[in-house]
Amino acid sequence: MAAAAAGGGEVPGRPVVLLRSGRSIPVLGLGTSHQGGYSHDAVVHALQKCGIRHIDTAKRYGCESLLQKAIKESGVNREDLWITTKLWHSDYGYENTKKACLESCERLGVDYLGLCRSIGVSNFLISHLEQLKEDCVVTPHVNQAEYHPFQRPQELVDYCRSRGIVFEGYCPLAKGEALTHPSVIQLAKKYGKTPAQICIRWSIQNAIVTIPKSTKAERIQENCKVFDFTIAEDDVEILNGLHDGRHVSWDPSLIV
Ligand SMILES: NC(=O)c1ccc[n+]([C@@H]2O[C@H](COP(=O)([O-])OP(=O)(O)OC[C@H]3O[C@@H](n4cnc5c(N)ncnc54)[C@H](OP(=O)(O)O)[C@@H]3O)[C@@H](O)[C@H]2O)c1
Repeated sequence: MAAAAAGGGEVPGRPVVLLRSGRSIPVLGLGTSHQGGYSHDAVVHALQKCGIRHIDTAKRYGCESLLQKAIKESGVNREDLWITTKLWHSDYGYENTKKACLESCERLGVDYLGLCRSIGVSNFLISHLEQLKEDCVVTPHVNQAEYHPFQRPQELVDYCRSRGIVFEGYCPLAKGEALTHPSVIQLAKKYGKTPAQICIRWSIQNAIVTIPKSTKAERIQENCKVFDFTIAEDDVEILNGLHDGRHVSWDPSLIV
């Protein structure tokens, strides 16, 4: 799956990560999905009230046109917004990719992406990125892959960093599974935060661009309140130690 991204406005107190493309991506974004529903009001709330300036979507999620409506209603300018969308395998190839990008632009109601300002890949393991190196002249700016306390692919993160590829982590809450883990609950109590805030803050402290999804305005608000505390190094290590290799989305090692 290929990812195409562009835009990105800065909000005070909201860190951004500089990509090799010269663009800055907000470290915290809002996920959308074809699973678990889509809420127009929640996206508008995220943009208007929570300082969200980074939205993650995909052609496959089927909500690009809905996002167009929400972005318009929010009043946030295109140039202040980072939008990532992803193409599908069937769009591989120069002409197909170009066509798919332009179609995504149309559905999203934006005039750039299709002329991608930053390009990325998703679910690429080291072997896939090595293969890409042989075939392509451009190194991806971003690799989006699963990242949460049970899935912390440090070797892949290190490899990406060594090549200047920013690692973006999806499913930071492990689709909710991480929120009931005793260590996460214990740390939430210790810091006076919620389990979701602990997972998101941990991911960001590990320098991962992080894109939790929620269809509920109050949860999006909660998920954005992660810039007013720091998890101590010992506690980061506790969360790092929860890695057991499980995938809550899918396992890209099955793709050769
Ligand atoms: N590239 C890929 O292959 C790929 C694969 C999967 C996901 N992604 C991207 O990553 C994003 C996030 O992944 P995800 O949605 O699968 O997993 P996630 O963000 O780890 O978890 C989302 C789940 O947690 C719930 N939730 C959110 N905030 C919460 C809170 N504060 N308290 C309790 N529950 C909360 C949501 O329910 P409610 O909506 O009911 O709040 C939803 O069920 C997606 O939206 C998508 O943009 C990319």
